[in-house]
Amino acid sequence: MKKKGERIAMLTAYDFPTAEIMDGAGIDAILVGDTLGMVVLGHETTLPVTLEDVIHHASAVVRAGPRALVIGDMPFLSYTVSVPDAVRNAGRLVKEAGVGAVKLEGGRTMVPVIRAIQRASIPVMGHLGLTPQSILRFGGYLVQGKDRAAADRLVEAAEALEVAGCFAIVLEAVPAGLAARVTKAVSIPTIGIGAGPECDGQVLVTHDLLGIYDRMLPRFVKRYASLRSEMDRAFREYVKEVKEGTYPGPEHCYEGDGGE
Ligand code: KIV
Repeated sequence: MKKKGERIAMLTAYDFPTAEIMDGAGIDAILVGDTLGMVVLGHETTLPVTLEDVIHHASAVVRAGPRALVIGDMPFLSYTVSVPDAVRNAGRLVKEAGVGAVKLEGGRTMVPVIRAIQRASIPVMGHLGLTPQSILRFGGYLVQGKDRAAADRLVEAAEALEVAGCFAIVLEAVPAGLAARVTKAVSIPTIGIGAGPECDGQVLVTHDLLGIYDRMLPRFVKRYASLRSEMDRAFREYVKEVKEGTYPGPEHCYEGDGGE
């Protein structure tokens, strides 16, 4: 797609119906991101997410039978303790959840891990820039690669990930000019989130796009729907109708006299 100049549309999904709907809409890739910890499980960060959490949710996404590539995110500490551990954990995402690829965060230091997972025949997507699993080191959700040295380091890291065998790289929260530089520097696709229009593709967290998650609204999020208010309206109406006895109506009831 990069060679053809066709932009890649990726979204996150954590459940069966959402995966089915977005696949029908023509999405190219579905990421079962560790953002599930925040937008589905209610954690403050992605750090508490476990491999079991991702396997559980990725299995549901895979059961939708999507045409899109399903990528399972490797959670915090599932690939940094040791290389054999990383291969085993990536393998569990493939064997137990059925994903077609895994994603992991980090630059040059991740090269041995990426190579080893690749050697096990598991495709790896990289993730550079604002990598949320490093939130404690960054000290906040801050735009990365803003000065010349940091920008150069990020380009070098992207080149290293390509050489290590990544098939694509997510670029998160970096200046648009830097993302354009990276996109030119590597022959694999870049997928941007807060990285401007020059990336080969874009990804958003679906709960942000749909207007369900409201604890944080990064500048790069475009809300394509306001489902939170629509859900709120529907729940309130249901509660009201149950309380006043107007639901269920005759059309929702099974016929019969109860044996009398
Ligand atoms: O976990 C996730 O959803 C991600 C995206 C923000 C790219 O890594």
